[in-house]
Amino acid sequence: MTDFNGKGVVLTGAASGIGRLMAIGIASAGGRVALWDIDESGLENVRAEIVAAGGHAVPVRCNLSDRGSVKQAAAQTLQALGSVDVLINNAGVVSGKDLLEISDEQIELTFNVNALALFWTTRAFLPAMLERDCGHIVTIASAGGIAGTAKLVDYCSSKFAAVGFDDSLRAELKSRKSKVMTTVICPYYIDTGMFAGVSTRFPAILPILDPDKSVRRILAAVSKNRRRLIMPWFVYTTYLMRLAPVALSDWALDFFGVTHSMDRFIGRKS
Ligand SMILES: NC(=O)c1ccc[n+]([C@@H]2O[C@H](COP(=O)([O-])OP(=O)(O)OC[C@H]3O[C@@H](n4cnc5c(N)ncnc54)[C@H](O)[C@@H]3O)[C@@H](O)[C@H]2O)c1
Repeated sequence: MTDFNGKGVVLTGAASGIGRLMAIGIASAGGRVALWDIDESGLENVRAEIVAAGGHAVPVRCNLSDRGSVKQAAAQTLQALGSVDVLINNAGVVSGKDLLEISDEQIELTFNVNALALFWTTRAFLPAMLERDCGHIVTIASAGGIAGTAKLVDYCSSKFAAVGFDDSLRAELKSRKSKVMTTVICPYYIDTGMFAGVSTRFPAILPILDPDKSVRRILAAVSKNRRRLIMPWFVYTTYLMRLAPVALSDWALDFFGVTHSMDRFIGRKS
């Protein structure tokens, strides 16, 4: 079990959405949280909320698409927390456009934040975890890291990379007989605003997930050292679909409304 009480936790993307809710949940469980985000005023709000409730949180401004900024944030965090027991790579961005409409810069940003940053943050904290032979690296990926969707070519590719990152890191840790744990989280759409405008055809089996409930499940999965959490349960069938002929799995994604789920995507204004 990874108990958050007294643990040093780094949480990226802590200023909003499920990052904010995870930060509040971890702090209320006694964790000392370093809140990483590029959004300084958002960070300050979350810090104030946690401190008002009697929790411990340190805001750390970090631009995850800049390796130098990650190094600086890691040094600042170690100074503030002493050591880091849990790293939760949660920050993410989405453009929500067709491949030919996205700018080169947007594609690079998607990969920098959703995929490459995982390498920089993990390389900053894993060595000390290996030395102590304990720790936990959590990757907030996406159901879009298991199946591709229209208007999400950059996003899904980066989330496939995030799932691959977790899979191979877990193998590497196992080959070293390390006790450092990993958990990957693959949710379908969550109602945080990041994917505002998306639709679901069969909400009974593929609901747009509630942020509070999702975060409770994520933190429980991390606490229980679960290696993988996919939600809702119906998304597990996507794995089975990989065994079917491509035409059949494409038909299924279309039939269940996934292929066109981004048609009315708005996303965040800023
Ligand atoms: N919301 C969903 O439908 C959904 C579904 C599946 C997976 N996810 C994943 O969950 C994670 C959190 O999503 P959310 O819905 O809470 O999103 P959100 O937009 O509410 O939060 C993302 C946070 O990441 C931060 N961020 C963005 N770029 C950054 C950068 N360069 N440096 C530092 N911080 C940066 C933002 O400032 C923001 O606070 C993301 O990785 C997302 O891909 C979300």
